[in-house]
Amino acid sequence: MYNAYIGQLLYEHIRMRRVGRVLERQLDIAARCEEPDFILLIRALDYLRGLPARLHHSREDRLFERLRTVDTNLARELEMLRAQHQEIYQLEDTLQELAVAAAKGGQAAYPRLLEAGRDYLRIRKSHSQLEERSVFPVAARKLTPEDWQLLECPRLDDHGGSIDAEMHGRVLSLYRRLMEQPKAA
Ligand SMILES: [Fe+2]
Ligand SMILES: [Fe+2]
Repeated sequence: MYNAYIGQLLYEHIRMRRVGRVLERQLDIAARCEEPDFILLIRALDYLRGLPARLHHSREDRLFERLRTVDTNLARELEMLRAQHQEIYQLEDTLQELAVAAAKGGQAAYPRLLEAGRDYLRIRKSHSQLEERSVFPVAARKLTPEDWQLLECPRLDDHGGSIDAEMHGRVLSLYRRLMEQPKAA
């Protein structure tokens, strides 16, 4: 059965995956010792850092919290995914610093950027696969209409679970610009 909450998370996964491919192509260029488009690379990181941190991961964290109370078998996976959200933020911060250093410092800085960039993409991929294969299907099966209704309610202490219209417009415009690149889809 279609679930709007999970549908939105899956839709965001598709977009993040597309932007991840933009980043991957720039890393491939650096791997050939050619100069990547650093503006594009930094914009892709900006998108990946902006949307998940402000909206996607916090919505997932709320889902994990709820799911933990109804399915204790998933406790280990849910804890790992929650910790990975923090790990992903740290990797993005490091990657942004390495991208700026490589833009200034040239090819000598490419190997560290490549290593960190590929690690980051690998972790992101396995993270979203685990969510899509193990967590979302169980949530769709086990959570009740009341659970979903509660998850949609904004919480007073939740500062990371929503974005304002201006931020939403900025994220959308950034995404469109990234997708305008050749072979971006
Ligand atoms: Fe996640
Ligand atoms: Fe996710």
